[in-house]
Amino acid sequence: MRVSRLTSLAVAGLLLAAACNSATPVPPLPPATVVNAVLTPVQRGKYIVETSGCNDCHTPWKMGANNQPEADMTRYLSGHPEGMKLNKPPKLEGAWMAATTGSFTAWTGPWGISYTANLTPDQNTGIGIWTEDMFIRAIREGKHMGTSREILPPMPWAVYKNWTDDDIKAVFAYLKSIPAIRNQVPDPTPPPDVAKMK
Ligand code: HEC
Repeated sequence: MRVSRLTSLAVAGLLLAAACNSATPVPPLPPATVVNAVLTPVQRGKYIVETSGCNDCHTPWKMGANNQPEADMTRYLSGHPEGMKLNKPPKLEGAWMAATTGSFTAWTGPWGISYTANLTPDQNTGIGIWTEDMFIRAIREGKHMGTSREILPPMPWAVYKNWTDDDIKAVFAYLKSIPAIRNQVPDPTPPPDVAKMK
């Protein structure tokens, strides 16, 4: 007891020192294994989602102050907004190979146009009917709904496939726990159809 109180005093002292002088090293956090052991799958999933950039593509962004876009958290992880009118993508030349909308939810490149999926648990338009197994296979194998066509860029499944099974399950558990938002994301537009856009 006495030792642990001394330890916490020492840690508090170090934190204070760190706050006063940024050159003082901040004491290390407890090892991840200790933290993970006390997190529920939903908490662990939230941590992974919030540190893996899902929001950058799956939440629609809008223009904020100083020309800096910001995520519209009222539509958290609900994917490309249905009914958003898109004109023909810009002609990409030279070093430019891909472009995105101001929402960061529609992406064009040699693959056509991909639209970020609704990751909320809405039954009809989100991942409400997905099983854990479908989610694991989608992330591991890069297959739409875990079984069909290839998942298109820029979805970084080839990065996320390196998660452990427990991590993928935790992400799925978290996504199932967030508010469901009804938003029907369009199917990808293949290149010949992009060419016909106005
Ligand atoms: C750089 C942008 C980007 C990031 C970051 C991103 N995604 Fe995606 N994601 C996409 C796009 C685009 C699609 C749609 C691809 C398609 O239709 O083939 C997609 C599709 C998906 C799908 C649906 C796959 C299917 O069956 O069609 C899931 C699930 C998914 N993303 C989960 C995630 C999770 C979880 C994260 C964060 C850990 C994440 N994504 C981060 C762009 C992104």
